[in-house]
Amino acid sequence: MHSLLERQLRRFFRGDSPTDPRTVQLLAAISDAYQAFDDDRKLLERTLALASQETEERYRALQQDIAARQRAESERDAFFLASPDLLAIFDTNLRIIQANPSWAHTLGHEPSELVGVAFDTLVHPDDLSTALAGAKSVTETGHVRDIELRLRHRDGSWRLVNTAGTMDTKRGLLFAIARDVTEQRQMERELAQAQKLEAVGQLASGVAHEINTPVQYVGDNVSFSSDGFQTLFTYLDKVHALLTPEQKKQLEDAAEEADLDYLKAEIPPSLSEAKDGLRRVAELVRALKEFAHPDAGEKAPADLNRALERALVLARGELKHVSRIETALGSIPLLRCHVGGLSQAFLNLFVNAAHAVEERTRVSGVSWKEHVIRATTRVEGGDAVIAISDTGCGIPDAIRDRIFEPFFTTKPMGKGSGQGLPLVRNVVMAHGGRIEIQSKVGEGTTFILRLPFETPSGIREAA
Ligand SMILES: Nc1ncnc2c1ncn2[C@@H]1O[C@H](COP(=O)(O)OP(=O)(O)O)[C@@H](O)[C@H]1O
Ligand SMILES: [Mg+2]
Repeated sequence: MHSLLERQLRRFFRGDSPTDPRTVQLLAAISDAYQAFDDDRKLLERTLALASQETEERYRALQQDIAARQRAESERDAFFLASPDLLAIFDTNLRIIQANPSWAHTLGHEPSELVGVAFDTLVHPDDLSTALAGAKSVTETGHVRDIELRLRHRDGSWRLVNTAGTMDTKRGLLFAIARDVTEQRQMERELAQAQKLEAVGQLASGVAHEINTPVQYVGDNVSFSSDGFQTLFTYLDKVHALLTPEQKKQLEDAAEEADLDYLKAEIPPSLSEAKDGLRRVAELVRALKEFAHPDAGEKAPADLNRALERALVLARGELKHVSRIETALGSIPLLRCHVGGLSQAFLNLFVNAAHAVEERTRVSGVSWKEHVIRATTRVEGGDAVIAISDTGCGIPDAIRDRIFEPFFTTKPMGKGSGQGLPLVRNVVMAHGGRIEIQSKVGEGTTFILRLPFETPSGIREAA
């Protein structure tokens, strides 16, 4: 019998148990009902316990989930904040929703100021079509990479960036990343240029070497012929003097046929012209050889006036029929230098001067005879001073700060590459020197190079 029912019956019947079979039967049925009720309750309790355990487990998992998500978010925020690359989220109109602090470091724009800014206002006008093609491609394919374009720095300069992007079409968001590759690309270009120059230099020095030998023996032979003819003519004069009038008469026809007078008059000047031409070739070859070895090895004492004249020889092609050339070369001691590099610098200054004069002639029609490109050298305050002036177009103030920038040029393709003045600056800096510029638009320009005789360590190196 169910224990609770038994206790209740004992209290009710005070010790006597009922014997009536029907009552006993009823009590047994009640006891079964008690038991069934008990069983149900226990089952319910167990179910409840199970359910609450499950809820608790779910709650704990959810909490872990939230913590993991928060961790991921803060990690992502850390990457967003720390990335040296430019990161930004754009809407479908390419307006910035969020930008990372790199925008301030790289481009000078505070991220907060960029919110709402249209991307195209930051892109270089010449790169707009590239940018738009990239945007179109990312909306169509979902991804885009390796798009290179220039972005405007707050100070007005341009930085070259390599960009990649990915599109979240459902939310209409474009995630973009851009890496500043300005210096890298510049170095790549400079390296390629240096390699090209080196190859050209090697070629020039090889050719110069090859030309040198034949030029030398042609020169020797011309000198030999010139002396030989002189001797022959003297000999013929002597023979002529010994002849009788009869014999002279007999030879007259032969002399006429051979045009002897003409030969006597023309052979010496033609040979001296040939010698002159050969001297010019030899000069060019020497200039080429020096030009080809700009900075090879140690600095060595060199005559700057000679280097300047060599550069003029090499620039002759550019200067001819452009301007008169004047030189006023003072007496300057030998300077310990890389004379090849300096020759290249002078050559670039002459070529720039010629271009400037041409430009002014083009614009205002001044005849070339009224122009002058002047090179002067002197010693001043412990420096060798080389000045190259022109009566060309002048340098506008607006570009004054930029002319030494690598690849900066105002000249059309093929004429300018923007590498002349950077080379001049590098060479002058390598000699511890300075460059001054005086220029007036429509009047002309003077470049003044000051190269100290004394090295910075204070040792007097000039010979
Ligand atoms: N003598 C000069 N007169 C006027 N402008 C000059 C002169 N020299 C240089 N410049 C300016 O500086 C720019 C850069 O010169 P440079 O570095 O030699 O490159 P490039 O001659 O190939 O243009 C030129 O494009 C020109 O605008
Ligand atoms: Mg130049």
